[in-house]
Amino acid sequence: MPVSVHERNKQFHLYNDRVSYILEVLPNGNMGQLYYGRRLRDREDFSALREFTNRPITSWPMKELPSFSLEFTRQEYPAFGTTDFRQGAYEVIPEDGSHISDFKYVGHRIGAGKPDLPGLPHAYVEDDSEAETLEILLRDGVTGAVLTLTYTVFAHMAAIARSAEFKNEGRQVLQLNRALSMSVDFPDSRFEWMQFSGAWGRERAPKVRPLQQGLTAIESMRGHSSSQQNPFVILKRPETTEYSGEAYGFSLVYSGNFLAQAEVDVYDVTRFSMGINPRNFSWRLEPGASFRTPEVLMTYADDGLNGLSGTIHTLLRSRVARGYWRDRPRPVLLNNWEATGMEFTEDDIVRIARKGAEVGVELFVLDDGWFGHRTEYSGLGDWFVDRSKLPNGVKGLADRINALGLKFGIWIEPEMVNEDSELFRTHPEYVLCTPDRSKSLGRNQLVLDFSNPEVVDYIYDMLMKAFDGANISYIKWDMNRSITECYSAALPPEKQGEVYHRYILGVYSLYEKLIAAYPELLFESCASGGCRFDAGMLYYAPQAWCSDDTDAGERVRIQYGSSYGYPISSWGSHVSVCPNQQLGRSTPLYTRAGVAFFGAFGYEMDLNSLSDEEIEEVKKQVAFMKERRELIQFGRFYRLRDPYKEELGAWMVVAPDRSEAIVGLYQRTVPLNGGFLQVKLQGLDPEKDYSINGGLVRGGDELMAYGLRPRDAADHPLTALYPENIPQELSRDFDSRLYYLSAL
Ligand code: DGJ
Repeated sequence: MPVSVHERNKQFHLYNDRVSYILEVLPNGNMGQLYYGRRLRDREDFSALREFTNRPITSWPMKELPSFSLEFTRQEYPAFGTTDFRQGAYEVIPEDGSHISDFKYVGHRIGAGKPDLPGLPHAYVEDDSEAETLEILLRDGVTGAVLTLTYTVFAHMAAIARSAEFKNEGRQVLQLNRALSMSVDFPDSRFEWMQFSGAWGRERAPKVRPLQQGLTAIESMRGHSSSQQNPFVILKRPETTEYSGEAYGFSLVYSGNFLAQAEVDVYDVTRFSMGINPRNFSWRLEPGASFRTPEVLMTYADDGLNGLSGTIHTLLRSRVARGYWRDRPRPVLLNNWEATGMEFTEDDIVRIARKGAEVGVELFVLDDGWFGHRTEYSGLGDWFVDRSKLPNGVKGLADRINALGLKFGIWIEPEMVNEDSELFRTHPEYVLCTPDRSKSLGRNQLVLDFSNPEVVDYIYDMLMKAFDGANISYIKWDMNRSITECYSAALPPEKQGEVYHRYILGVYSLYEKLIAAYPELLFESCASGGCRFDAGMLYYAPQAWCSDDTDAGERVRIQYGSSYGYPISSWGSHVSVCPNQQLGRSTPLYTRAGVAFFGAFGYEMDLNSLSDEEIEEVKKQVAFMKERRELIQFGRFYRLRDPYKEELGAWMVVAPDRSEAIVGLYQRTVPLNGGFLQVKLQGLDPEKDYSINGGLVRGGDELMAYGLRPRDAADHPLTALYPENIPQELSRDFDSRLYYLSAL
């Protein structure tokens, strides 16, 4: 039983064989937090885990109990203002304008499985035996509001899902000004905070800093999760490494404005909380209405960061991502964006796709430019075919692509509009903009008001008409600017605080409509590359374009950083031309492929521009990926060497039964006459021997304890992937090697 209730002490213990999470009802009826960490044996009474002492200059909420103050009591979902002065998890304003709430325990429910979060992405189970859910019901006696805290503990993963729901069961209108998904108080502050920050073209770089007394926080106020800050945070112990020690992961299953913060108080208690960013957020709760927060997936490991990532990968890949493509190997794709931009004819596209078919590509993706009168400044929002480019419509092109033996995919940016478009001319009220204020542009475009269901339906209808009859297998859903001057013409003034969240709900609803119309469609989410790389998106699109930066050297870093919080199967990664269009850098073709193999693999170029030798190399790459993609996409991924910190980056994937593995080594700048190089591997069977690229045999124990050497494979090429006479050592800048290990 993963949830046990100890009625006498009003304590609740959620656990599996790796993790325990314990909460209790406090003397004043609020919920208290007792423990979150390595699994504890279940017992009648966990009161010994309560930190308690009389402290001077505190206030207390119960007259009869002056020793009880929320100021130093660990809590589950705290409120500000009733003796706790730290950051609260929520704020409810009743009609009298007061700021105080006091939710007291009234009961609980326990059920097998995991309930859905209607309208929101969430983790799920396929069988009720996979998880158990505890719902704690609390009530505010003055307003009649009911708060439900929901906890699901998974049976076979060190993972707990949390969310909260407010229901107005009173008679007055309530204003919700803050409604985070979760909050947890740890008894100490010996933590390092790890965030994944960046900017366009250099997304999700790990940044680590020790927690100190006060606030540590990241947020997005861009209307999307953003490449600047990712809604995934790790708290780890200072001594934790990739292979050992405690780490806690927090993944927000949401794609809009968010806040993640840790507050260390003067008694070294750490409060971690996460959810919808309270800035510019408010939600009107009419009597009878309810508000459900997005979900946070809390993961735990005591075997280091690789252990934590392993759990997160399994959870997101198999119990957040859904649908037809979840467990299927992803098609090798070819995208025309870097080849043509928006300028092309149907024949150009067919010529590019034909070359793709020749090398073994399986899916052709037509990127931006096929609709309206599309230029850099116009056409967005007009989802009808530009007949000057595609005289036979989307269907005509899709048929020609299909005739080459390829599946057909297409790009859309449904949330956007150019001022120079028929849509904007007909429906200027469909954009988000503040009355009497100017509208800021981003990429020359405005943002449609997806908080308005009418707009979502309008776009859906247009898309369906444009796609009519076409055999579409894949959609790349782009989103290329942040929201500014956020205001919806469709909502009254008192509901303007709801627009950002309603917008994201609108995005999710369009995904649901498209999925319902095309259940076997593969979605790739994209927002200028990595601006919407979050767990929420994975519920709809199992892969996301990692970054617009396709330079292999930078991609090693970006994919390495992404690996902390997201599974390989979610990283859209393509081989592009050299010199690289973003950075001007040249890297070997085998390095570009060697990096892109670790992800949802494809090409982003006109393959006709390659030499005959390069085409032969590409054919081998495609064949290699097709042969090994199940191992790569569904194997266990390990980070081995950090390319942010060293000139050599390395990672590997291992099959679940440890019978095979693939290792990638990636050099940045190479030292002249450098030292000996060994890369210690992970996850192999120490009792087994492995052949390296079908040649030299070495023990799993040796490979893990001493390490793999580049020259171990000198005579035995995977080197089918490499040009002839490749030296055994990594010998030039941005050189790389792949090793295929097979247990004997
Ligand atoms: C940004 C995307 O990240 C690119 O891959 C490409 O689809 C362009 N948008 C098209 O406008």
